[in-house]
Amino acid sequence: MLKGKHIILGITGSIAAYKAAYLLRLLIKQGAEVQVVMTPAGKEFITPVTLSSLSGKPVVSEFFTANTGEWHSHVDLGLWADAMIIAPATASTIGKMANGIADNMLVTTYLSCKAPVFVAPAMDLDMYAHASTQRNLELLKSYGNHIIEPATGELASHLTGKGRMEEPERIVAVLDRFFDSTQPLRGKRVVITAGPTYEKIDPVRFIGNYSSGKMGFALAEACAQAGAEVVLVAGPVSLCERHAAIHRIDVESAEEMYRATVAEYDRADIAIMCAAVADYAPETVSDVKLKRTLEERVLRLKPNPDIAAELGRRKRTGQLLVGFALETNDEESNARAKMEKKNLDFIVLNSLRDAGAGFRCDTNKVTVIGREGSSVEIPCKPKAEVAADIVDILARYISGEK
Ligand code: CTP
Repeated sequence: MLKGKHIILGITGSIAAYKAAYLLRLLIKQGAEVQVVMTPAGKEFITPVTLSSLSGKPVVSEFFTANTGEWHSHVDLGLWADAMIIAPATASTIGKMANGIADNMLVTTYLSCKAPVFVAPAMDLDMYAHASTQRNLELLKSYGNHIIEPATGELASHLTGKGRMEEPERIVAVLDRFFDSTQPLRGKRVVITAGPTYEKIDPVRFIGNYSSGKMGFALAEACAQAGAEVVLVAGPVSLCERHAAIHRIDVESAEEMYRATVAEYDRADIAIMCAAVADYAPETVSDVKLKRTLEERVLRLKPNPDIAAELGRRKRTGQLLVGFALETNDEESNARAKMEKKNLDFIVLNSLRDAGAGFRCDTNKVTVIGREGSSVEIPCKPKAEVAADIVDILARYISGEK
């Protein structure tokens, strides 16, 4: 699966850096083209000469080549890659990646990288168990990065515990699986709506809601990782998409989201309506900032178009339409009624009564209800994992394995 793949191998200052030479050798043997990027500390543990001899490419470590002044573009490198793997990843590099501290070539390349990123931590057991390391790893996961958990065993400190970098063969197996061409949504086109909509009142005010867009973005990443081309129609959110197969269209109002989504739907195989679309918008929008008066003010609202229902009307045979329902009471019957009314094939139900579910959380707990009677409960877990489970259900449905 790795033949011809462009892989950035990031090496940081851990004793496990010696294993990176073997990892590099395995990647090259599988037919991958590998560019090594090292942190200055990484070079203290293993020489760039060893790595450039194995990869056939000069190792990149500095922003400039000292004698020629040639600039190494971390942006080009980030775009070149099909995957980036940081092995070994120290607590320090993990912390910098989690917090965007781009003070070396490796972290700047990471921040520029649109391809999937795999991180194989390596450190002493107490460093690994420390709350800050664990929090940083959680942050990396929430950005969509893949963490290759360290193994438990004897460490360089002679202590025994969790912190050993995973063996190179296993790391290659993870990548291999990732690039498996039997990806369930390969060749499919998916349209996803995400986030809130803002309905303007005047140039400085709007009606909005608390949706963060995290679930929709996690679904976009999961679909892209499953091999789909994704069009992500995003309301105003402060999130970034990572996968190169995600094409993002930014919109603000329900009307804009409606137009963008309907325009994309014709070419789509799957549409997932994850946005929290405002049901109403102010009937008139003032061109100037409304002034405070001492009188009561009435804001007249007009109904917004229902995007999911419109797609339900346009749905052709073979197109799959998925909606979300956030309910506070009579959850299941309300969700089923919405599925019927909007001609959806699946509805993903969140209940605001469940802890760790719904708006602004990093986790979610949902029930995926199918038109044909299926109902699958996904327990409370990170939104990225919930998204992967939802995609799995949809992929199995498409493949006929209902
Ligand atoms: N939806 C949409 N366009 C709208 C309103 C909702 O596409 N104008 C989609 C949502 O993205 C979601 C589904 O319809 O997939 C259900 O949204 P929800 O807000 O729960 O349903 P409503 O029809 O707005 O019903 P209500 O607010 O009365 O519960």
